[in-house]
Amino acid sequence: MTIPRGTVVALVGANGSGKSTLAHLLSGVYQPHSGRILWDDVDAAEADRDQLFASVAILAQNFQRWAFTVKANLFLGRPEYPCGQDQLDASATYADLHPVLDELPRGWDTLAAKGFEGGVQLSGGQWQKVALARTHLRVTTPGPAGRLPHLVVVDEPTSAMDAKAEIAAFERIRELADLGVTVVLITHRLAATAKADHIYVLDHGRLIEQGTHEQLMAQQPATQYREAYLLQAAQYETGTVPKQAAPAAKTATPH
Ligand SMILES: Nc1ncnc2c1ncn2[C@@H]1O[C@H](COP(=O)(O)OP(=O)(O)OP(=O)(O)O)[C@@H](O)[C@H]1O
Ligand SMILES: [Mg+2]
Repeated sequence: MTIPRGTVVALVGANGSGKSTLAHLLSGVYQPHSGRILWDDVDAAEADRDQLFASVAILAQNFQRWAFTVKANLFLGRPEYPCGQDQLDASATYADLHPVLDELPRGWDTLAAKGFEGGVQLSGGQWQKVALARTHLRVTTPGPAGRLPHLVVVDEPTSAMDAKAEIAAFERIRELADLGVTVVLITHRLAATAKADHIYVLDHGRLIEQGTHEQLMAQQPATQYREAYLLQAAQYETGTVPKQAAPAAKTATPH
């Protein structure tokens, strides 16, 4: 599997096919028992661990929901960096977190942990916005030795978001590639992976198919990807979308 710099690469496959495991391997959290991961021609097993971690940002499927303030939940992505309010705000804008903050009793300083005094319980989708903002902060603020990560791995970053938020989030995740960051996107939403530069399909821990969306849809015999894509698309083709009612005619009310 090759992941070219500055592109968006999608990893898809059934539950348990190995996507998250691969995400952890790529980001250096796991080390392979066999096989190799090469960064250009440097074997990750021999690379400096600190440099490797500094080069990667991972938004894990089961990311940490720290029982701290919302603000701390962002800057824990860069604990060693004294980030300012403008950087926090930029990341909140990126992840569309401001509307969430506006509704919290103490905004940025709200404790994101129910059960403590003043603590609140964020919803699943709200937590994913916090996690996306944390990832953005990590990708845009330099780590030790002034390094910015150039690989970001996002694992099911939007699974709890509403439709509008999800589409916007995928759009903004893709924009990271315009900054020169390589994006590995893991998701079951194949409408989003369709726009990736390259798609890898995993099955029981093995790479079974690869190509662009168009290539995977056109291949004969039909790919597992095509089957899954058509299955999802068919859910929206029930033909039962009601016509929008014409707006009621306004009647003038006499004074
Ligand atoms: N730490 C671990 N130790 C042992 N087995 C694991 C570990 N993590 C995952 N597995 C197993 O490895 C396989 C792949 O899991 P993985 O989480 O990578 O799947 P996935 O493709 O991300 O699935 P999903 O779509 O459900 O997120 C599964 O059978 C899982 O039970
Ligand atoms: Mg997974």
